[in-house]
Amino acid sequence: MGLVHLMKRTSFVSYGRSLFGLLSAGRAPVPLLRMFRKLHPTERLQPATVPVPYRLRPYEPGDEDSWVGLLNGSGEFGLWDRRRLHDEVVGPLLPGGGVFVTVGDELVGCASACFVDEFEPYAILMYVALLPGHRGRGLGHALVWETMRAAQRAEVPGMLLHTENHRLAAIRTYFQLGFLPRLGTGAADERQWTDVLGKALLRREE
Ligand SMILES: CC(C)(COP(=O)(O)OP(=O)(O)OC[C@H]1O[C@@H](n2cnc3c(N)ncnc32)[C@H](O)[C@@H]1OP(=O)(O)O)[C@@H](O)C(=O)NCCC(=O)NCCS
Repeated sequence: MGLVHLMKRTSFVSYGRSLFGLLSAGRAPVPLLRMFRKLHPTERLQPATVPVPYRLRPYEPGDEDSWVGLLNGSGEFGLWDRRRLHDEVVGPLLPGGGVFVTVGDELVGCASACFVDEFEPYAILMYVALLPGHRGRGLGHALVWETMRAAQRAEVPGMLLHTENHRLAAIRTYFQLGFLPRLGTGAADERQWTDVLGKALLRREE
């Protein structure tokens, strides 16, 4: 993938800070960790469940302002407005690919499965986030699972994602759901993965 092309197309990054931003800031970017999860049409993906008072539901038109508020409230992926949400997420969304965790009418978590030309035929998992007060309860697991179900319904053969070294809770979640490291041009190499895996997966008896 050419650099100019890459700089034009930043929406595949699942973590928000664009490669364009990194490059234009003049810093050598640390390669993103790329992960892949195959989806077989006959695999039975049962609906995820979440504990009371949480609920899971898909994105519906009209959710945009609340979604922008959630992404800003997560404090993770820079500043959001309706334009950015449309360009990076809602525009390329798969049918049913926008998933929320709610408490009453409030959105407290989100994830999205999108189509981006560079990575077809696969779906791209993007912007998985929970508000800080709702982490540590397995809700990220449920969000990603529901995007996988949407991708399977859309007859997509697999999902890709890109993330960063420090997102250990996310990386552990992705492994638990069957995503595996994928090496390749522009993505993290074996050495980078070895370091991250030690932190995300290895645990000592306490
Ligand atoms: C990713 C995210 C949605 C996961 O939320 P969550 O479901 O509440 O995740 P948890 O806190 O339960 O952590 C998931 C797992 O990682 C583990 N974990 C959490 N923090 C960890 C850390 N610093 N190091 C290693 N493991 C960690 C948890 O113990 C848990 O493991 P377990 O399932 O074996 O118990 C949430 O952390 C978040 O919003 N992060 C910020 C945004 C982000 O990084 N998004 C991903 C972009 S690619």
